[in-house]
Amino acid sequence: MRLDVVSIFPEYLAPLDLSLIGKARRDGVLDLHVHDLRDFTHDRHRTVDDSPFGGGAGMVMKPEPWAEALAHVTRAGATDAAPVPHLIVPGPGGVPFTQAMAHRLAAEPWLAFACGRYEGLDERVYEHAAERMPVTVVSLGDYVLNGGEVAVLAMVEAVGRLLPGVVGNAESLVEESHEGGLLEYPVYTRPASWDDGGTVRDVPPVLLSGDHGAIERWRHEQRVARTAARRPDLAAAAAAVAGLDDLDVRVAAPADAAELVVLQRACWVPELMVSGGWAIPPLEESLDDTVAGLAGWTTWVARVRADGGAPGRLVASVRGRVRPGDPTVWETGRLMVAPDLQGRGIGRALLELAEAGAPPSVSTYWLNTSSAVPANIRRYRRSGYRPVPGEGAWPGTVDLTKRRRP
Ligand code: ADE
Repeated sequence: MRLDVVSIFPEYLAPLDLSLIGKARRDGVLDLHVHDLRDFTHDRHRTVDDSPFGGGAGMVMKPEPWAEALAHVTRAGATDAAPVPHLIVPGPGGVPFTQAMAHRLAAEPWLAFACGRYEGLDERVYEHAAERMPVTVVSLGDYVLNGGEVAVLAMVEAVGRLLPGVVGNAESLVEESHEGGLLEYPVYTRPASWDDGGTVRDVPPVLLSGDHGAIERWRHEQRVARTAARRPDLAAAAAAVAGLDDLDVRVAAPADAAELVVLQRACWVPELMVSGGWAIPPLEESLDDTVAGLAGWTTWVARVRADGGAPGRLVASVRGRVRPGDPTVWETGRLMVAPDLQGRGIGRALLELAEAGAPPSVSTYWLNTSSAVPANIRRYRRSGYRPVPGEGAWPGTVDLTKRRRP
């Protein structure tokens, strides 16, 4: 992913050389370019601001340096695949930055950030930019910072860590706060019993029990309780399913297999109607086959949350694996969403989740689908996949691939 940041304080972005984001840059996963807005001025004082028309406090950023800076960024980074960046302008008057937005931005090839200072950018900069590229004003929260740089640090970290290979363990992404619309459960490490000098504080016994089912249930209860106590707005939102963020997403366990069989049967029957008699494995496989499939693939299952947050009906799933014998290919499949919840972006978001699970060795995403269902092929195309000419891996199917973005 390419990132460009324009600021009058380029040094502010220095922390992006540190930690996992710094490593992602060195590994070539993030191609970050920081530009000094003053390089696009032409006067002796390198002026970027002026007083507001109509009076009022503070200064306004002049339009001309911004137009030049954006033209420079676009010239420097344009490719056939991504001719312009998506311009993000941080500001307290923008749409709220959320984990869901971080996921959407992580799927884009090129983001540019325009860091305003003072009272903000001359409004004509937005009009000028919007005629040339997608523009979104994004707010970190309902408070006012001195400029966009701190917000860019936060957004680049939140987006960058979702890119494949930046955080080693994809499961740790699934389990953290805001993934699935709930806050993170509390965590503990040794010693199991700690005397803080006045009070002995024990780790909750369930975590020492070795009963993984009980631990998972306890953790989920903690997530629900924390969300209700600290973020009642999120708890209420979780009751309705608007998209993947509203579902409880986890890596599947054998106990999920029976519901997977049921969902599979529901989701592949429409394909049976038009398949021309070809075999459709998700309709034919037994419960034992499905359990075996869980061992060979990483399967994610999404459940609606019942009242109180407990995971309820299994409504969506996807799976992924490194192709046996070829570590450069990540195979995804069995992408399914319950009929009543289709059309909310859940399938697309799950596919992205599965792609994010690919290890760094992977350079190509691969999937296979029936040639008889053009709507599904169109959906995969919208996610960046392209059909491989000729028949797919099985009769009546087509293979689709997508290059992993560096
Ligand atoms: N710039 C100033 N305040 C901001 C905020 N709350 N979010 C993003 N950018 C900002």
